[in-house]
Amino acid sequence: MVTAIVIYNSRGGNTRKVAEKIAEGLEVECVNHKNIPKNIEDYDLLVLGTWPMMFKVRGKSKRWLTKFSKKKIDGKKVVLFFTSAGPDEVLPSTKDTNPKLIKEMVFETMESIINAENKVTILDERFYSLGALRMFGKIMDKEGHPTEEELGQAKAFGEMLKEKFNA
Ligand SMILES: Cc1cc2nc3c(=O)[nH]c(=O)nc-3n(C[C@H](O)[C@H](O)[C@H](O)COP(=O)(O)O)c2cc1C
Repeated sequence: MVTAIVIYNSRGGNTRKVAEKIAEGLEVECVNHKNIPKNIEDYDLLVLGTWPMMFKVRGKSKRWLTKFSKKKIDGKKVVLFFTSAGPDEVLPSTKDTNPKLIKEMVFETMESIINAENKVTILDERFYSLGALRMFGKIMDKEGHPTEEELGQAKAFGEMLKEKFNA
């Protein structure tokens, strides 16, 4: 039996909601990056989530992932997920040369941070959801992503991980 945990950072709550649903599907604990268990080396499957700001994984998101990559996580399996207002938008800086989508950038960046020392195996299973942009306490889209449907998809993703990795 594989021991799994979901860890995330979230400013407005979108990534937290998705994280909690993935954990519900996996039937494992879900913690904010500030509450990572001290015995993290006892877990086999690490499900890590964050969100991009101004076209990049930056600030707190980058800092906790970098710090986490230095923990005793050698040999662990890692699953990545994120929420973003425009995962399918083209990164403006790459528009004219080699167009790249925000979601490609987020996964690539998360992967390069977490696996900077080549200690873990990043699994192909990954998840992302739309997450409404919040500015000055106001939700900037009508649908209020992640929607119930998207949260259902997050739970189904967790259930799939449980089934596949015997977590
Ligand atoms: C200051 C700021 C900048 C953002 N920049 C981007 C961006 O460049 N691309 C994008 O897709 N989403 C962007 N977003 C949207 C967030 O990534 C999205 O709302 C995410 O779901 C927030 O997660 P959280 O609610 O867990 O904090 C930005 C949000 C904020 C507050």
